[in-house]
Amino acid sequence: MNQLFRRKLYSDQEAPSGLLRVLGVWDIVFFGIAAIIGAGSFSSLGEAVFRGGPGVIVLYIICGFACGFTALCYAEFASRIPTAGSAYTYAYASFGELIAWVIGWALIMEYSFGNIYVAFSWSDYFTSFMGRIGVHIPDYLTCSYTEAKKAFMGGSENKELINAWKSAPLIGNLKLIVDIPALVINGLITWLCYVGVKESKNFNNIFVLLKLFIILLVIAVGIAYINTDNWFPVSTVTGTASFMPNGFAGVMSAVSGVFFAYIGFDALSVLSEETKNPQKNLPRGMIVSLVLCTAIYIVLTLVLTGMVDYRKFDGVGDPLAFIFEKSNANVAWMEFVVSLAAIIAITTVLLVFQMGQPRIWYAMSRDGLMPKKFMEIHPKHKTPGFATIVTGIVVGVPILFTDKSFILDFTSIGTIFAFVLVCGGVLLLPSKEKLKGRFHLPYINAKFIFPVLFLGGLAFFYTWQPQFFHHLKDWHDPEEGEFRISIIVFLLINLVLCVLAFLKNLSLIPLIGLSSCLYLLTGMSHNNWFWFLLWFGIGLIIYFSYGYKNSKLNNDLNGDLN
Ligand code: ALA
Repeated sequence: MNQLFRRKLYSDQEAPSGLLRVLGVWDIVFFGIAAIIGAGSFSSLGEAVFRGGPGVIVLYIICGFACGFTALCYAEFASRIPTAGSAYTYAYASFGELIAWVIGWALIMEYSFGNIYVAFSWSDYFTSFMGRIGVHIPDYLTCSYTEAKKAFMGGSENKELINAWKSAPLIGNLKLIVDIPALVINGLITWLCYVGVKESKNFNNIFVLLKLFIILLVIAVGIAYINTDNWFPVSTVTGTASFMPNGFAGVMSAVSGVFFAYIGFDALSVLSEETKNPQKNLPRGMIVSLVLCTAIYIVLTLVLTGMVDYRKFDGVGDPLAFIFEKSNANVAWMEFVVSLAAIIAITTVLLVFQMGQPRIWYAMSRDGLMPKKFMEIHPKHKTPGFATIVTGIVVGVPILFTDKSFILDFTSIGTIFAFVLVCGGVLLLPSKEKLKGRFHLPYINAKFIFPVLFLGGLAFFYTWQPQFFHHLKDWHDPEEGEFRISIIVFLLINLVLCVLAFLKNLSLIPLIGLSSCLYLLTGMSHNNWFWFLLWFGIGLIIYFSYGYKNSKLNNDLNGDLN
């Protein structure tokens, strides 16, 4: 049993990789914005607004908090473990091998599956950009089969998807519907990563400035078209004007899309070896980029929902261009500029993730948990060539048969799960390991504060959203049923955490990180949980049939015994 939790020891003196420490705090902020702002703000914001209405900004704030606390936990790990790493490396040191494997497996959901969604979004903007310059790509070549089928069967009002289903040519009995731009961009990005595109600070900074400029332009131009009545549409729950027209449950149902917009800040921890004074600059850089992004998301959501009725965003994959369409604000030049900028902005996110995945596999392969092939370095290009190609396949094949919303949910649940484990991992780190001169989470004793915060938060929420709790009592409502179970599990876990905080004097920051990430998980549906657990199960089978035996720790141990 102990073997499952064997831990990798990282010595503080572990040789650094020879990378130069050149990055300052603003470089980290720029890298953060490069990785964070992408398909989430340019694309999934549309669906989030449709579900939650203007009140979805509350969820942006909750996610910002959850990610901020998690970022601090990442920083704590990054300062303790001197090799560049991800949640996988950190879990190997704190929880041991089995959980490290589980996290590594969950990170495939963040990096590879996340990129499937990003590729779909890239395709949405590319297609609309081409349309605006007069090149019409047939609808059945710009969306996925599943998406078109779902839209047709579900009676969606999305014209492009319905048209794709109706106009697709038949191959035998199968309709030819495939998202060609998404496949092509994935192929191109894989090739760039294979031949070793240089992550250049200067290029990165130019792209970030472009992203920020375009978002600020959307806000500046859009403000003039805001109709404040749109912020208080008639609620489907109470029948009165409300900032949250679908209630708080509606807001929470947007969690995947909103959380997705924040994913990426964790990729910053891999820069710890290249950062000047990482113990200070890394956490500062992460927090500043998260605060900036949260502010941007809030303002952007207010502009979008003020300009256009939230109900019109159903199935809209390019919301920042959509608001300027003829039927909305009717500003043709903005439609054009935004689509072009979005294509470039989203490409940078694709690159960050497509480069991150092979590097995680590289680390897992070095530890013996994945076949050696994954750590092979291309002799000429000096990149993990095999792992890069496998990443391209893992992203490319599902483009053929999955749809955006499924992938979005799947990515978010996997990533939140990894964050839960990171925060939990920091709680378990022995405090005596702290080293002078390093970044360390300030220790605040959670003994009384956490129970007070939790119970106070609960009381506040009860007063603010009483109907939410009244629904909890109704066990037989099939629509709300799944939501209720996860809320009840969440409340029970937090009660246990309150007791543990009291008895064990736990540290407040990771505890809040853990609790807020657990809260985000309550927004996931049964369907998400089913697929997540299936993925989890497959991961365990692979671990026990391969990683457990081939683990370097296992072999080192056997070597020692012989
Ligand atoms: N946060 C990243 C994006 O929005 C994943 O594209």
